[in-house]
Amino acid sequence: MKSIFLIGFMGAGKTTVGKSLAEKLRFELIDTDHSIEIEQGKAISEIFEVDGESAFRDLEVQQLKKLRNSENSVISTGGGIILRSENCKILKETFSIYLKADFENIFKRIKEDKTRPLLLTDDPYSTAKNLFQSRQDTYESFKYHITTDFKNPSEISDEIISLYNLHAQN
Ligand code: S3P
Repeated sequence: MKSIFLIGFMGAGKTTVGKSLAEKLRFELIDTDHSIEIEQGKAISEIFEVDGESAFRDLEVQQLKKLRNSENSVISTGGGIILRSENCKILKETFSIYLKADFENIFKRIKEDKTRPLLLTDDPYSTAKNLFQSRQDTYESFKYHITTDFKNPSEISDEIISLYNLHAQN
């Protein structure tokens, strides 16, 4: 069966939903950030610091190209994967779901996290909000969206499975 790609902003729930979804479908769970870290032998924060954001985005492109034809996997992507138009093109050719959440809820989840290099600024709230707004249109351009606010991972994964079955029939 075709893999399922989860997209959405940092803290939207891609990892927790991915775990639940993979368990329910008995699919493998792949996290593009984690795969990049293993392959590079470096944490994402170190790649940003030493090689720069653009080098990280190149690695995301390479990772997605490797996974585009994968099967029986749930692929949780980094929030910024949609910044490269070639990634959007690939993701739109696969079964991708945008996990959509309210910014204030997102910020509550990400504010204490020091592993996300883009948020290590003097004003993480404004930084995150600007990033969120600047990416909104691109996320919205995807066909399938699921709102994650006030739902648990199991409920969200059930909704994804319904959409997935519907998509498979078309
Ligand atoms: C990023 C999101 C992160 C990670 C990197 C950059 C982004 O992944 O890829 O810190 O640009 O939004 P998560 O969405 O899993 O936090």
